[in-house]
Amino acid sequence: MNKIELAPGVYFVGAVDWNQRDFHGYNTPRGVTYNSYLIVDEKICLIDTVKAPFAAELLERISDIIDPAKIDYVVTNHVEPDHSSALPAIMARAPQAKVVLTEQGRSGILKHYQQNFDFQIVQEGDVLDLGHRRLRFFPLPMLHWPDSMASYLEEDQILFSNDAFGQHICTTKPFDDENNLADVMYEASKYYANILMPFGKIVTKALAQLKPLPIKIIAPSHGVVWRSHISDIVSKYADWGQGKTVKKVVIVYDTMWGSTERMARYILDGLAAAGVTGTLFKMSASTRSEIMAEVLEARGVLIGSSTINTSVLPTIGGLLIYMKGLKLSGKIGAAFGAYGWGGTAHTFTEEMLKGAGVELAASALRVQWTPNQDEIDKCFQFGLDFGKRVLETP
Ligand code: FEO
Repeated sequence: MNKIELAPGVYFVGAVDWNQRDFHGYNTPRGVTYNSYLIVDEKICLIDTVKAPFAAELLERISDIIDPAKIDYVVTNHVEPDHSSALPAIMARAPQAKVVLTEQGRSGILKHYQQNFDFQIVQEGDVLDLGHRRLRFFPLPMLHWPDSMASYLEEDQILFSNDAFGQHICTTKPFDDENNLADVMYEASKYYANILMPFGKIVTKALAQLKPLPIKIIAPSHGVVWRSHISDIVSKYADWGQGKTVKKVVIVYDTMWGSTERMARYILDGLAAAGVTGTLFKMSASTRSEIMAEVLEARGVLIGSSTINTSVLPTIGGLLIYMKGLKLSGKIGAAFGAYGWGGTAHTFTEEMLKGAGVELAASALRVQWTPNQDEIDKCFQFGLDFGKRVLETP
Protein backbone atom coordinates (compact mmCIF):
# COMPACT_ATOMS: atom_id res chain seq x y z
CA MET A 1 0.00 0.00 0.00
CA ASN A 2 1.12 3.61 -0.51
CA LYS A 3 3.06 4.90 2.48
CA ILE A 4 1.66 8.18 3.83
CA GLU A 5 4.29 10.03 5.86
CA LEU A 6 3.38 13.07 7.99
CA ALA A 7 7.00 13.63 9.03
CA PRO A 8 10.09 11.39 8.89
CA GLY A 9 9.14 8.24 10.78
CA VAL A 10 5.52 9.29 11.39
CA TYR A 11 2.97 7.49 9.21
CA PHE A 12 -0.76 7.38 8.59
CA VAL A 13 -1.75 3.71 8.97
CA GLY A 14 -5.53 4.05 9.35
CA ALA A 15 -8.45 2.68 7.35
CA VAL A 16 -10.59 4.32 4.68
CA ASP A 17 -14.26 3.30 4.76
CA TRP A 18 -15.39 4.60 1.36
CA ASN A 19 -18.84 3.01 1.63
CA GLN A 20 -19.94 4.11 5.09
CA ARG A 21 -23.03 6.29 4.67
CA ASP A 22 -24.34 6.36 8.22
CA PHE A 23 -22.34 7.01 11.37
CA HIS A 24 -24.77 6.36 14.24
CA GLY A 25 -27.40 8.49 12.54
CA TYR A 26 -25.03 11.05 11.01
CA ASN A 27 -25.16 10.75 7.22
CA THR A 28 -21.73 10.54 5.64
CA PRO A 29 -22.03 10.93 1.84
CA ARG A 30 -18.24 11.20 1.48
CA GLY A 31 -17.51 8.11 3.62
CA VAL A 32 -15.54 7.84 6.85
CA THR A 33 -11.89 7.30 7.74
CA TYR A 34 -10.55 5.86 10.97
CA ASN A 35 -7.15 7.46 11.30
CA SER A 36 -4.34 5.68 13.08
CA TYR A 37 -0.74 6.83 13.12
CA LEU A 38 2.54 4.99 13.63
CA ILE A 39 5.63 6.62 15.12
CA VAL A 40 8.82 4.71 14.38
CA ASP A 41 11.55 5.66 16.83
CA GLU A 42 13.71 3.62 19.23
CA LYS A 43 10.29 2.66 20.56
CA ILE A 44 7.43 1.96 18.19
CA CYS A 45 4.19 3.73 19.04
CA LEU A 46 0.77 3.33 17.47
CA ILE A 47 -1.67 6.22 18.00
CA ASP A 48 -5.22 4.83 18.12
CA THR A 49 -6.52 1.89 16.12
CA VAL A 50 -9.53 1.61 13.79
CA LYS A 51 -13.01 0.11 13.67
CA ALA A 52 -12.79 -3.68 14.13
CA PRO A 53 -13.84 -4.73 10.58
CA PHE A 54 -10.84 -2.73 9.29
CA ALA A 55 -8.21 -4.35 11.55
CA ALA A 56 -6.71 -6.18 8.54
CA GLU A 57 -6.23 -2.88 6.66
CA LEU A 58 -4.54 -1.36 9.71
CA LEU A 59 -2.24 -4.37 10.13
CA GLU A 60 -1.41 -4.36 6.41
CA ARG A 61 -0.40 -0.68 6.50
CA ILE A 62 1.69 -1.25 9.65
CA SER A 63 3.30 -4.38 8.17
CA ASP A 64 4.43 -2.36 5.14
CA ILE A 65 6.54 -0.30 7.58
CA ILE A 66 7.46 -2.58 10.50
CA ASP A 67 6.54 -5.95 11.97
CA PRO A 68 3.44 -5.25 14.13
CA ALA A 69 4.97 -7.51 16.80
CA LYS A 70 7.51 -4.72 17.42
CA ILE A 71 4.93 -2.20 18.61
CA ASP A 72 5.86 -1.04 22.13
CA TYR A 73 2.97 1.31 22.86
CA VAL A 74 -0.61 1.70 21.68
CA VAL A 75 -1.85 5.14 22.69
CA THR A 76 -5.63 5.00 23.05
CA ASN A 77 -6.82 8.58 22.87
CA HIS A 78 -10.48 7.56 22.85
CA VAL A 79 -12.49 4.45 23.69
CA GLU A 80 -15.31 4.88 21.15
CA PRO A 81 -15.27 1.71 19.02
CA ASP A 82 -14.48 3.51 15.75
CA HIS A 83 -11.00 4.01 17.26
CA SER A 84 -10.56 1.19 19.72
CA SER A 85 -12.41 -1.89 18.48
CA ALA A 86 -9.35 -3.09 16.52
CA LEU A 87 -7.28 -2.90 19.74
CA PRO A 88 -7.77 -6.60 20.59
CA ALA A 89 -6.54 -7.55 17.08
CA ILE A 90 -3.45 -5.33 17.48
CA MET A 91 -2.72 -6.66 20.97
CA ALA A 92 -2.98 -10.23 19.65
CA ARG A 93 -0.08 -9.37 17.29
CA ALA A 94 1.86 -7.28 19.84
CA PRO A 95 1.02 -8.85 23.21
CA GLN A 96 3.95 -7.15 24.97
CA ALA A 97 2.77 -3.65 24.03
CA LYS A 98 1.59 -1.25 26.70
CA VAL A 99 -1.78 0.45 26.20
CA VAL A 100 -1.35 4.12 27.11
CA LEU A 101 -4.52 5.96 28.11
CA THR A 102 -6.35 7.88 30.80
CA GLU A 103 -7.90 6.20 33.83
CA GLN A 104 -11.35 6.72 32.27
CA GLY A 105 -9.97 5.14 29.11
CA ARG A 106 -8.76 2.09 31.03
CA SER A 107 -12.17 1.45 32.59
CA GLY A 108 -13.83 1.93 29.19
CA ILE A 109 -11.48 -0.47 27.40
CA LEU A 110 -11.88 -3.09 30.14
CA LYS A 111 -15.67 -2.90 29.91
CA HIS A 112 -15.75 -2.98 26.11
CA TYR A 113 -13.27 -5.82 25.49
CA GLN A 114 -12.99 -7.67 28.85
CA GLN A 115 -9.23 -8.05 28.34
CA ASN A 116 -6.72 -6.92 30.91
CA PHE A 117 -4.00 -5.42 28.71
CA ASP A 118 -0.76 -3.99 30.14
CA PHE A 119 -2.15 -0.52 30.82
CA GLN A 120 -0.07 2.61 31.39
CA ILE A 121 -2.23 5.39 32.82
CA VAL A 122 -1.31 8.96 31.92
CA GLN A 123 -2.39 12.33 33.21
CA GLU A 124 -2.12 15.93 32.04
CA GLY A 125 1.45 16.74 30.96
CA ASP A 126 2.83 13.20 31.31
CA VAL A 127 5.47 12.37 28.72
CA LEU A 128 6.33 9.12 26.95
CA ASP A 129 9.97 8.90 25.86
CA LEU A 130 10.21 7.16 22.47
CA GLY A 131 13.99 7.59 22.07
CA HIS A 132 14.58 10.64 19.91
CA ARG A 133 11.08 11.95 20.42
CA ARG A 134 8.67 12.57 23.24
CA LEU A 135 4.92 12.25 23.28
CA ARG A 136 3.04 14.50 25.71
CA PHE A 137 -0.54 13.84 26.80
CA PHE A 138 -3.46 16.21 27.21
CA PRO A 139 -6.62 14.58 28.59
CA LEU A 140 -9.65 16.45 27.20
CA PRO A 141 -12.53 14.94 29.21
CA MET A 142 -15.95 15.27 27.54
CA LEU A 143 -14.44 16.26 24.22
CA HIS A 144 -16.46 14.30 23.60
CA TRP A 145 -16.29 11.28 25.96
CA PRO A 146 -14.92 11.17 29.51
CA ASP A 147 -11.83 9.28 28.28
CA SER A 148 -10.97 11.63 25.38
CA MET A 149 -7.35 12.72 25.12
CA ALA A 150 -4.99 14.42 22.67
CA SER A 151 -1.33 13.49 22.26
CA TYR A 152 1.42 15.85 21.13
CA LEU A 153 4.67 14.80 19.49
CA GLU A 154 7.01 17.52 20.72
CA GLU A 155 9.91 17.31 18.26
CA ASP A 156 7.69 17.20 15.14
CA GLN A 157 5.04 19.50 16.63
CA ILE A 158 2.23 17.15 15.66
CA LEU A 159 -1.01 17.19 17.63
CA PHE A 160 -2.91 13.91 17.45
CA SER A 161 -6.25 15.44 18.32
CA ASN A 162 -8.51 12.40 17.96
CA ASP A 163 -12.12 13.45 17.17
CA ALA A 164 -11.41 17.18 17.50
CA PHE A 165 -10.79 18.84 14.11
CA GLY A 166 -12.08 15.71 12.34
CA GLN A 167 -14.21 15.49 9.22
CA HIS A 168 -16.03 12.59 7.58
CA ILE A 169 -14.41 12.61 4.18
CA CYS A 170 -12.56 9.94 2.19
CA THR A 171 -9.92 11.01 -0.28
CA THR A 172 -6.74 9.67 -1.83
CA LYS A 173 -5.11 12.98 -0.84
CA PRO A 174 -4.46 12.84 2.90
CA PHE A 175 -3.59 16.52 3.56
CA ASP A 176 -5.85 19.55 3.76
CA ASP A 177 -4.01 21.54 1.06
CA GLU A 178 -4.39 18.70 -1.45
CA ASN A 179 -8.18 18.92 -1.33
CA ASN A 180 -10.85 21.50 -2.06
CA LEU A 181 -10.68 23.60 1.10
CA ALA A 182 -14.39 24.50 0.99
CA ASP A 183 -15.30 20.80 1.02
CA VAL A 184 -12.97 20.06 3.92
CA MET A 185 -14.18 23.05 5.94
CA TYR A 186 -17.81 22.13 5.29
CA GLU A 187 -17.22 18.58 6.50
CA ALA A 188 -15.34 19.92 9.54
CA SER A 189 -18.28 22.18 10.36
CA LYS A 190 -20.75 19.34 9.91
CA TYR A 191 -18.63 17.18 12.20
CA TYR A 192 -18.48 19.88 14.85
CA ALA A 193 -22.23 20.55 14.62
CA ASN A 194 -23.20 16.91 15.00
CA ILE A 195 -20.57 15.63 17.44
CA LEU A 196 -19.00 18.49 19.40
CA MET A 197 -21.64 21.23 19.52
CA PRO A 198 -22.92 20.32 23.03
CA PHE A 199 -19.40 20.86 24.39
CA GLY A 200 -18.70 24.44 23.29
CA LYS A 201 -17.38 25.57 26.68
CA ILE A 202 -15.07 22.57 26.86
CA VAL A 203 -13.84 23.32 23.33
CA THR A 204 -13.00 26.88 24.39
CA LYS A 205 -11.15 25.59 27.46
CA ALA A 206 -9.24 23.00 25.41
CA LEU A 207 -8.14 25.61 22.87
CA ALA A 208 -6.72 27.71 25.72
CA GLN A 209 -4.99 24.63 27.14
CA LEU A 210 -3.37 23.77 23.79
CA LYS A 211 -2.62 27.37 22.73
CA PRO A 212 0.98 27.44 24.07
CA LEU A 213 1.94 24.48 21.86
CA PRO A 214 3.66 25.23 18.56
CA ILE A 215 1.72 23.10 16.08
CA LYS A 216 2.87 22.24 12.56
CA ILE A 217 0.38 19.45 11.97
CA ILE A 218 -2.99 18.50 13.42
CA ALA A 219 -3.63 14.82 12.81
CA PRO A 220 -7.24 14.05 13.73
CA SER A 221 -8.83 10.61 13.92
CA HIS A 222 -11.17 11.29 10.99
CA GLY A 223 -10.58 12.85 7.59
CA VAL A 224 -7.66 14.84 6.25
CA VAL A 225 -4.58 15.96 8.16
CA TRP A 226 -4.26 19.71 8.72
CA ARG A 227 -0.86 21.16 7.81
CA SER A 228 -1.60 24.33 5.80
CA HIS A 229 -4.88 25.61 7.25
CA ILE A 230 -4.32 25.10 10.97
CA SER A 231 -5.07 28.68 11.93
CA ASP A 232 -8.28 28.55 9.83
CA ILE A 233 -9.70 25.49 11.54
CA VAL A 234 -8.56 26.56 15.02
CA SER A 235 -10.18 29.96 14.49
CA LYS A 236 -13.41 28.25 13.38
CA TYR A 237 -13.35 26.07 16.51
CA ALA A 238 -12.90 29.20 18.61
CA ASP A 239 -15.98 30.77 16.97
CA TRP A 240 -18.10 27.62 17.18
CA GLY A 241 -17.09 27.01 20.79
CA GLN A 242 -18.30 30.50 21.69
CA GLY A 243 -21.54 30.01 19.72
CA LYS A 244 -20.78 32.85 17.29
CA THR A 245 -23.41 33.22 14.57
CA VAL A 246 -23.96 35.01 11.26
CA LYS A 247 -27.07 36.78 9.96
CA LYS A 248 -28.66 33.64 8.62
CA VAL A 249 -31.90 31.77 9.28
CA VAL A 250 -32.53 28.08 8.74
CA ILE A 251 -36.15 27.12 8.07
CA VAL A 252 -36.96 23.45 8.55
CA TYR A 253 -40.46 22.19 7.90
CA ASP A 254 -42.53 19.21 6.97
CA THR A 255 -45.94 19.29 5.49
CA MET A 256 -48.96 17.01 5.24
CA TRP A 257 -50.94 18.49 2.32
CA GLY A 258 -48.69 21.39 1.26
CA SER A 259 -50.00 24.27 3.41
CA THR A 260 -47.06 24.36 5.82
CA GLU A 261 -44.77 24.20 2.80
CA ARG A 262 -46.47 27.25 1.28
CA MET A 263 -46.13 29.06 4.59
CA ALA A 264 -42.41 28.26 4.67
CA ARG A 265 -41.87 29.73 1.21
CA TYR A 266 -43.64 33.02 2.02
CA ILE A 267 -41.75 33.26 5.31
CA LEU A 268 -38.53 32.77 3.34
CA ASP A 269 -39.54 35.66 1.06
CA GLY A 270 -40.03 37.84 4.14
CA LEU A 271 -36.61 36.93 5.47
CA ALA A 272 -35.03 37.78 2.13
CA ALA A 273 -36.85 41.12 2.11
CA ALA A 274 -35.33 41.85 5.51
CA GLY A 275 -31.88 41.29 4.04
CA VAL A 276 -31.23 38.02 5.85
CA THR A 277 -29.90 34.87 4.23
CA GLY A 278 -32.46 32.10 4.49
CA THR A 279 -32.01 28.38 3.92
CA LEU A 280 -34.97 26.07 3.47
CA PHE A 281 -35.07 22.36 4.31
CA LYS A 282 -38.02 20.03 3.88
CA MET A 283 -37.40 17.50 6.61
CA SER A 284 -38.69 14.49 4.68
CA ALA A 285 -36.16 15.28 1.91
CA SER A 286 -33.20 16.12 4.18
CA THR A 287 -31.03 14.57 6.86
CA ARG A 288 -30.71 15.77 10.45
CA SER A 289 -26.95 16.03 10.17
CA GLU A 290 -26.89 18.21 7.04
CA ILE A 291 -29.46 20.49 8.68
CA MET A 292 -27.37 20.81 11.84
CA ALA A 293 -24.36 21.78 9.71
CA GLU A 294 -26.42 24.76 8.48
CA VAL A 295 -27.81 25.52 11.94
CA LEU A 296 -24.30 25.71 13.46
CA GLU A 297 -23.63 29.31 12.39
CA ALA A 298 -27.24 30.43 11.87
CA ARG A 299 -28.62 33.08 14.20
CA GLY A 300 -32.23 32.07 13.64
CA VAL A 301 -34.11 28.77 13.44
CA LEU A 302 -37.72 28.48 12.29
CA ILE A 303 -39.46 25.13 12.61
CA GLY A 304 -42.69 24.37 10.77
CA SER A 305 -44.96 21.38 11.03
CA SER A 306 -48.52 20.48 10.25
CA THR A 307 -50.42 19.38 13.33
CA ILE A 308 -51.00 15.64 13.42
CA ASN A 309 -52.62 13.91 16.38
CA THR A 310 -52.15 17.08 18.47
CA SER A 311 -48.38 17.22 17.85
CA VAL A 312 -45.76 17.58 15.12
CA LEU A 313 -45.04 15.28 12.19
CA PRO A 314 -42.64 12.50 13.27
CA THR A 315 -39.88 13.78 10.97
CA ILE A 316 -39.92 17.13 12.78
CA GLY A 317 -40.20 15.41 16.16
CA GLY A 318 -37.00 13.47 15.46
CA LEU A 319 -35.17 16.64 14.44
CA LEU A 320 -36.28 18.50 17.57
CA ILE A 321 -35.15 15.69 19.87
CA TYR A 322 -31.78 15.63 18.08
CA MET A 323 -31.48 19.42 18.28
CA LYS A 324 -32.28 19.43 21.99
CA GLY A 325 -29.46 16.98 22.64
CA LEU A 326 -27.00 19.14 20.70
CA LYS A 327 -27.71 22.21 22.89
CA LEU A 328 -27.73 25.24 20.61
CA SER A 329 -26.45 28.57 21.83
CA GLY A 330 -26.81 32.18 20.72
CA LYS A 331 -29.89 31.54 18.57
CA ILE A 332 -33.44 32.82 18.33
CA GLY A 333 -36.33 30.82 16.93
CA ALA A 334 -40.06 30.38 16.41
CA ALA A 335 -42.63 27.83 15.27
CA PHE A 336 -45.16 27.84 12.46
CA GLY A 337 -47.49 25.46 10.69
CA ALA A 338 -50.91 24.63 9.31
CA TYR A 339 -53.64 22.64 11.03
CA GLY A 340 -57.17 21.42 10.53
CA TRP A 341 -58.52 21.68 14.05
CA GLY A 342 -56.81 22.00 17.40
CA GLY A 343 -53.55 23.25 15.91
CA THR A 344 -51.26 22.39 18.82
CA ALA A 345 -48.09 21.28 17.01
CA HIS A 346 -46.39 24.54 17.92
CA THR A 347 -46.57 23.84 21.67
CA PHE A 348 -44.29 20.82 21.29
CA THR A 349 -41.99 22.70 18.91
CA GLU A 350 -41.66 25.66 21.26
CA GLU A 351 -41.02 23.45 24.26
CA MET A 352 -38.30 21.57 22.40
CA LEU A 353 -36.68 24.74 21.01
CA LYS A 354 -36.52 26.19 24.52
CA GLY A 355 -35.07 22.90 25.75
CA ALA A 356 -32.41 23.18 23.04
CA GLY A 357 -31.41 26.61 24.35
CA VAL A 358 -33.15 28.66 21.64
CA GLU A 359 -34.75 31.95 22.68
CA LEU A 360 -38.31 32.19 21.32
CA ALA A 361 -38.45 35.49 19.44
CA ALA A 362 -42.02 35.41 18.08
CA SER A 363 -45.38 33.82 18.80
CA ALA A 364 -46.10 30.81 16.64
CA LEU A 365 -47.71 31.52 13.28
CA ARG A 366 -50.61 29.16 12.61
CA VAL A 367 -52.91 28.80 9.62
CA GLN A 368 -56.07 26.69 9.45
CA TRP A 369 -56.34 24.40 6.40
CA THR A 370 -54.77 26.38 3.56
CA PRO A 371 -53.44 29.95 3.62
CA ASN A 372 -55.65 32.62 1.99
CA GLN A 373 -54.21 35.90 0.71
CA ASP A 374 -54.44 37.57 4.12
CA GLU A 375 -52.58 34.66 5.70
CA ILE A 376 -50.00 34.64 2.93
CA ASP A 377 -49.33 38.29 3.74
CA LYS A 378 -49.01 37.35 7.40
CA CYS A 379 -46.43 34.67 6.53
CA PHE A 380 -44.39 37.25 4.59
CA GLN A 381 -44.64 39.69 7.50
CA PHE A 382 -43.67 36.95 9.96
CA GLY A 383 -40.49 36.32 7.95
CA LEU A 384 -39.81 40.06 7.60
CA ASP A 385 -40.22 40.70 11.34
CA PHE A 386 -38.16 37.66 12.29
CA GLY A 387 -35.44 38.73 9.85
CA LYS A 388 -35.34 42.16 11.49
CA ARG A 389 -34.98 40.53 14.91
CA VAL A 390 -32.08 38.48 13.55
CA LEU A 391 -30.38 41.66 12.35
CA GLU A 392 -30.86 43.29 15.74
CA THR A 393 -29.62 40.27 17.70
CA PRO A 394 -25.92 40.50 18.54
FE1 FEO B 1 -14.57 9.10 16.25
FE2 FEO B 1 -15.88 9.67 19.35
O1 FEO B 1 -15.26 8.64 17.92
